[in-house]
Amino acid sequence: MQLLERLFDNCALYRHPVIADERGSLVALEGDRNLPFAIARVYYLFGGAAGAERGFHAHRALQQWAVCVAGACTILVDDGRDRREVRMDGPDKGLLIGNMLWREMRDFTPGAVLMVLASMPYDEADYIRDYDDFLREARK
Ligand code: TYD
Repeated sequence: MQLLERLFDNCALYRHPVIADERGSLVALEGDRNLPFAIARVYYLFGGAAGAERGFHAHRALQQWAVCVAGACTILVDDGRDRREVRMDGPDKGLLIGNMLWREMRDFTPGAVLMVLASMPYDEADYIRDYDDFLREARK
C-alpha cells in the first residue's frame, strides 16, 4: 500500500498495489495482510439515484476500507474537530476509515459502485446516527 494522503490519525487514502498485464489489472486486498484489520463483512453501494447522499453516521468501533470499484464518489470524513474530503475516483484507491469518524458520501457518478470492507459484522448498536451525539462522544 502506498500512502497517498493522511486525513486523520486513523484515516488515510492509499494506492493499492495493482498487478497489471496485457489482459488488464488486478487488485488483491487481504485482511491482516495488506489491510490493517481482518475482514468480517463486505458490502457495496450501487444504483444510487442522482444526487443521493449516504452515510451521515459514525461507528464506535468499526474500521472500514472503502474502494470505489467503478465510477467515482466523494467521501467526507469528520473527526469532531476537522472535516476532510477525498474524491474516490479509481479502483486503485482505498480509504481507511477508522472508528469514531463521521462520514458522508456524495457526488456519485452514474453507475458508481462503492465497495466497503469492514472489520465487524453489521451491528446497529455500533452506529452513532445523530451528529450531536457523535460530537459528544468524540470529544470525550
Ligand atoms: P446504512 O448504514 O444506513 O447505509 P449508508 O450508511 O450507506 O447510508 O444502511 C442502510 C440499511 O442497510 C440499513 O437498514 C441497515 C442495512 N445494512 C445491513 O443490513 N447490513 C450492512 O452491512 C449495512 C452496511 C447496512
